[in-house]
Parts: sequence; C-alpha cells; structure tokens
Amino acid sequence: MKISKSANQRIATFEAALSLTENRSHEDLLFAGVDLGTAYIVTAVVDHQGNPLAGVLTRSQYSIRDGLVLDYLGAVNILRQQVDVLREAGFSIRSAAAAYPPGTIGRNAKVFGNVLAAVGMDVKGLIDEPTAASMVLEITDGAVVDIGGGTTGISVIKDGKVIYTADEPTGGIHVDLVLAGHFKIPVHEAELMKIDPERQSEILLLITPVFQKMSTIVKRHIKDYSVDNIYLVGGTSCFPGIDTVIESETGLSVERPDNPMLVTPLGIALSCITN
Ligand SMILES: Nc1ncnc2c1ncn2[C@@H]1O[C@H](COP(=O)(O)OP(=O)(O)OP(=O)(O)O)[C@@H](O)[C@H]1O
Ligand SMILES: [Mg+2]
Repeated sequence: MKISKSANQRIATFEAALSLTENRSHEDLLFAGVDLGTAYIVTAVVDHQGNPLAGVLTRSQYSIRDGLVLDYLGAVNILRQQVDVLREAGFSIRSAAAAYPPGTIGRNAKVFGNVLAAVGMDVKGLIDEPTAASMVLEITDGAVVDIGGGTTGISVIKDGKVIYTADEPTGGIHVDLVLAGHFKIPVHEAELMKIDPERQSEILLLITPVFQKMSTIVKRHIKDYSVDNIYLVGGTSCFPGIDTVIESETGLSVERPDNPMLVTPLGIALSCITN
C-alpha cells in the first residue's frame, strides 16, 4: 500500500509547524507527543482532531541510547526547555504521551512516562514507536522500519497490531563513523556532511555498505512473516537513495513518507486522541 496523500499532508503540516510561526492557538484541547530518541528529542503538538499545530526538535546529546534513558535529568531538562518554548509560542501543554522503542518492557518503558511527569505533564499514555508511526502512515499491515540515530528498529504489523519487533544497533551514527574514517574528519563534521543535500549524491556510494547492513538486518527479521511493504521512518531514512538500496537488497517494495524523521513524534501525539 502506498502512503496516502493525506498522511504526507499531515507530516508536511507538522514540518511547517516546527517554525512556531502559526497564529497562537486558542484551543483548550492540545495534545503532545514526546519522542525521546538517541539523536533528537522531538515534541509534537496536535489539536483534538489530530491537526499538527506546533513542534520542537532538540539534539538529545545522548541522554538516551539504544532505547534506554541513560541520563534522566538531561532528558528532563531538554523537555522542560521545549515545554517553555511551546508555552511562549502560545501552546500550553498539559496532556502528553511518550513512546518507547519496540521491545522495551516493564520499568524501562515506564521511565519514558516519568520524564513527561517530571515536567508536569499528565501522561495520557505510553505507546510503542512503530504503532505510533503506523497511525500517521495510516497503515495496518507491513513492516515499519525505523532507522534512527543509534538503531534500526523493525516491526511487523498485521491488522493494526505489532506482531513482531526487533531493534539492532546500526543507525545514523554508524553512517557518520564511516564518513569520518574516510575523510579523516571529526564525527560532528561527518554528520554535517551527511545532511548537506549538496554532498549526498557524492557520498551515497561510500555509505551504501551501511545501508546494506541495515537491509540485511531487516531481511533477517522479517523472513518468517509475509510482508509486502516496508515503510521507512526515522531520520536516517531521509537520506536520498537509502530506499533504493533497501528495495534492491530485500526485493520488497519500500515506501517512504515525505519526512520520515517526523512520523513517530507526530504519531505519539495522535495516540493521545484515540486513547
Ligand atoms: N537528511 C538526513 N539525511 C540523513 N540522515 C539524517 C538526515 N536528517 C537526520 N538524519 C539522521 O537521523 C538520525 C536521527 O534520526 P531520529 O530522530 O529518527 O533518531 P532518534 O529517534 O533520535 O534515534 P533512535 O531511534 O536510534 O533512538 C541522526 O543520525 C541524523 O544524523
Ligand atoms: Mg527514534
């Protein structure tokens, strides 16, 4: 199934809303979704109909790694700053949901909610990341592949339910390490090179082995399931050409939304409404 126009439209609206230049909202019913990731902490704000209104994206400085909150206070501080920025822009958030990486259980999952509670939010719910993503993509079947900063997460979805999930440590940072090694530059410079649209076609060949490794991980995890479509989300999925590599390595049809990095945070916010 292709990603619908309305799904991409909602993602585009959220992307535009990150500028916080929209008219101040007079909505009482605002919901937030907080994505605590390895590379970024993203808060998305929607109204009670699921229209994206605002959002903030901050580098998480490795407060979170491989799905665990390592630096609790660091994460709380970033989120508090985000809440302040949103309040100043006219969006006072009280209700929010958080998401945990697939496979996170028990207390490790609860910590994601605790970070929200620590900044005074009423925790509407906790949701796993692929389910959040599937809500934005408007899909009920297929494999959601979330390639973030630290890991590649694979979730097989059937009839709207996650039936299999795995997360392996290969992500954007591994792309940076290859570039840093090749060009003999620091990792933070490699990161800038990677996201520079002017350089991306030139470096694609160099980092294709990393994308192939990700494809191998995906292939291995979905082999026992009947999957027709792979849906790419997460920041690393933004890289032009990664979809083609994964398509040719897995032999499956790969769908990519307009801005894969914003899908999960938006989905977490949407989950507040249906909860
Ligand atoms: N245009 C781009 N091209 C390639 N990579 C990008 C682009 N924009 C962002 N990224 C990469 O996406 C990663 C961050 O993605 P995302 O926000 O989904 O990760 P995360 O949720 O913080 O991490 P994780 O899910 O592993 O905990 C970073 O490695 C960043 O370099
Ligand atoms: Mg993530």
